[in-house]
Amino acid sequence: MPWSYIAGTGSAVPEKVLTNEDLEKMVDTSDEWIRTRSGIERRHIAEEDETTATLGAEAAQKALEDAGVSPEEVDFIIVATVTPEMLFPSTACVIQDMIGAKRAGAMDLSAGCSGFIYALSVADSFVRIGQSETVLVVASETLSKITDWTDRSTCVLFGDGAGAAVIMPSPDGERGIINTILGSDGSKGELLYMPAGGSRYPASHETVDKRMHYIKMNGREVFKIAVEAMGEAAASVVEGAGYRPEDVDLLIPHQANIRIIKATAKRLGISMDRVYVNIQEYGNTSAASIPIAVDEAKRKGFLRPGDLVVAVAFGAGLTWASTLFRF
Ligand code: ACO
Repeated sequence: MPWSYIAGTGSAVPEKVLTNEDLEKMVDTSDEWIRTRSGIERRHIAEEDETTATLGAEAAQKALEDAGVSPEEVDFIIVATVTPEMLFPSTACVIQDMIGAKRAGAMDLSAGCSGFIYALSVADSFVRIGQSETVLVVASETLSKITDWTDRSTCVLFGDGAGAAVIMPSPDGERGIINTILGSDGSKGELLYMPAGGSRYPASHETVDKRMHYIKMNGREVFKIAVEAMGEAAASVVEGAGYRPEDVDLLIPHQANIRIIKATAKRLGISMDRVYVNIQEYGNTSAASIPIAVDEAKRKGFLRPGDLVVAVAFGAGLTWASTLFRF
């Protein structure tokens, strides 16, 4: 029986767009390569004054409005991000102040592209045990600020944006989060990471000269593990709750690569007309990709109250996560 449900959603992306054609002028790549290998056509890129907190606060305000909840009613804020405003204080505290959520506790959560589902699971648990009644989950990223714009193997993939959801007690015990799977394999962390800026390699002239403050990724290896982990997680979250693939109305996968998305749908056993895809417009926005897709799918009428939804993600950590919910 679901305890908590998604009472409202919102999203925000920067206005500035970078197309594949723009990237052709920056690195040795082609629109054709990017489209066929990843499915990406455009991505939105933050201006200098747009940050993880400004985008996250905008998405949060829209989600609160959608849920009909005032900022003062929020008990707890969780921000999933790998591109925080700074190491500390948390981006969640910055957003708490920006939106005027005066009563709320606040913290960040780092689980790469799986961050939104991890945060959703924490929110669900807080509601379930009675710790909180209204939790604001925000997933916001400005990956463009840690992207090496000279590295063609990564710079064509990422984009900026934010999504948010208000989590509250299920109104009827029908709508809400039914099952969640969270997984990790830290032994493979260096397949996708930003090496410097933490306690292992504090910022220095050397770390800057060696370009260690940018995303480093072994795409081929990450791809293989992502296909396996996302397919397994999506299938298990459905079976584990006693449902069948044909019961699922919509699959909302992390938007990292159209080939990974198709492989995940195939493993789950559902056709692509029941899969929400917007990678062509935003690229990989890490933790923000699923809540942006949920909000967009709802606004465009692909996602309706009562629909059974599977969301599944994979990312830095390595981490993976899947959740089954009735919207
Ligand atoms: N343009 C043109 N050629 C390129 C580009 C580019 N932008 N990038 C790489 N290439 C070349 C490579 O150099 C290579 O050339 P070679 O064969 O001469 O060595 C060739 O294209 C093929 O490279 P691969 O890396 O094997 O290409 P692949 O088909 O694996 O696609 C991609 C690469 C798109 C990165 C894919 O591996 C992928 O999507 N990986 C997963 C990424 C992901 O899901 N990340 C997860 C989460 S992100 C997060 O948590 C923040």
